[in-house]
Amino acid sequence: MTDTAPLCAPSPHPADLAAIRATLEEALALQQAGNLAAAEPRYRRVIEAGYRVAEVRPILAGIMAVRGHLPAALALWDAVLADDPGNPVALHEQGLINGRLGRSADAIAMLRASFAADPENAVTANNLAVMLADAGERSEALEMFARALALQPGNLHIEHQIRRLSAELVPFWHIPMLNDARRNGAFEAAIIAAVAAAGPDARVLDIGTGSGLLSMMAARAGASAITACEVVPVIADTARAIIADNGYADRIAVHTALSSALEVGRELDARADILVSEILSSDLLTEKVIDTFEDAHARLLKDDAIVIPRAAAAIGCLVESPVLADYVFVDRVSGFDVSRFGALGPQKLPIHGTMTDWTRLSDDVELVRIDLTQRRHDSDLQTLDIRVTADGTAAGIVQWMHVDLAEGISFDNHPDGYCDGGWLQVLHPFPAPIAVRAGDVLRLAVGHDRVTLIVRPLDLAAGGALLQAA
Ligand SMILES: C[S@@+](CC[C@H](N)C(=O)[O-])C[C@H]1O[C@@H](n2cnc3c(N)ncnc32)[C@H](O)[C@@H]1O
Repeated sequence: MTDTAPLCAPSPHPADLAAIRATLEEALALQQAGNLAAAEPRYRRVIEAGYRVAEVRPILAGIMAVRGHLPAALALWDAVLADDPGNPVALHEQGLINGRLGRSADAIAMLRASFAADPENAVTANNLAVMLADAGERSEALEMFARALALQPGNLHIEHQIRRLSAELVPFWHIPMLNDARRNGAFEAAIIAAVAAAGPDARVLDIGTGSGLLSMMAARAGASAITACEVVPVIADTARAIIADNGYADRIAVHTALSSALEVGRELDARADILVSEILSSDLLTEKVIDTFEDAHARLLKDDAIVIPRAAAAIGCLVESPVLADYVFVDRVSGFDVSRFGALGPQKLPIHGTMTDWTRLSDDVELVRIDLTQRRHDSDLQTLDIRVTADGTAAGIVQWMHVDLAEGISFDNHPDGYCDGGWLQVLHPFPAPIAVRAGDVLRLAVGHDRVTLIVRPLDLAAGGALLQAA
């Protein structure tokens, strides 16, 4: 018999019954004693004799799986399923075996089928969740862990997995961002001004609602029709619950979707009068700000819609910092030249401006400014001359944001005065440290490719980055 052939099951001859029973007893005893290798052929003989096949096949399949004979185990479970289609145990075990074989799509399909057949089974729910998480389907995995926990309340392992996955799905900065009173106050002031200007019937669109905070601010300011979207399902579910907790569920509809999936005539009954969207990352654009705002202007907003924020700029200064230099440059280590590894260093390094030791070598300069009321943006690259104000070795540019929310209302995370918010400052390292003197001018290329900032010394190889002081 080959490793993969299913066992056939003829009826036992009555004369052989006693011998077969004895073989089964032996197999069970051997298995109990941990001698699976000896138990296996005995179980096979029992099945070949057609004796208690429905009970023995799953036992033998389990042994084959434990002993690593996975195709044979699958074939045995196939035989179980041929006799009993939809058998949840067989589907569950086939799911696990396919998982071990790296066939995650098959594994998930079988575990799904098993759970559909036995929806009270917490083990299947848990294993399906694990398989989904391993396959990168984290939101669905989280839902499935929640179902497993509902079936086994208080199970610490499942609770731990839920915490772990939630933390993977929800970036750490959400909580410090929510606790950033200065940020919140600036957004609320702009929202109050917008609702006052556009009136309570104005339709408000909140892209990337997170906890629902900005939508609730709009509701508190008097807006009666607020459509919010949030792409991360667990965050969107939480926003709906928070909005209900605060009594605004009748005025705010949260859709679990990317803004690009929203449509007027479906999620929005008409184009919105006010857009509020805080999807700015520490380096300004990484959360696809430009694509998102362009799409909103094109499809979801009135031509004269009030846009909050209306502009955002990246500001920066030249810095020296031995601490940061050790994060981004490498040369000789333990007597070896490993300088080539420097090319693999970070292109941007989030830093905590007030906690990291760094020295300013220039005044603050605007690197990039994006007018978010504009309907179209091209990628951009300009030269920028930075006047050096102190002698030192420049590691790069430390950058932060200035957000223009409305007339007279702005917010920034300038490193001198911002220490406990969701945004960090970002070091844009140079390819190598540059020695500078007060009065020099450092020529940079600055701009963006619509998603990331570009900050590079110009013509460094040709020595053209630095215009020496006279
Ligand atoms: C920086 S948080 C801000 C949350 C909330 N608006 C606040 O200010 O407290 C941005 C949120 O927007 C979501 N997001 C980003 N781009 C989105 C888009 N185009 N459509 C829907 N959600 C988006 C992210 O998942 C994240 O939860």
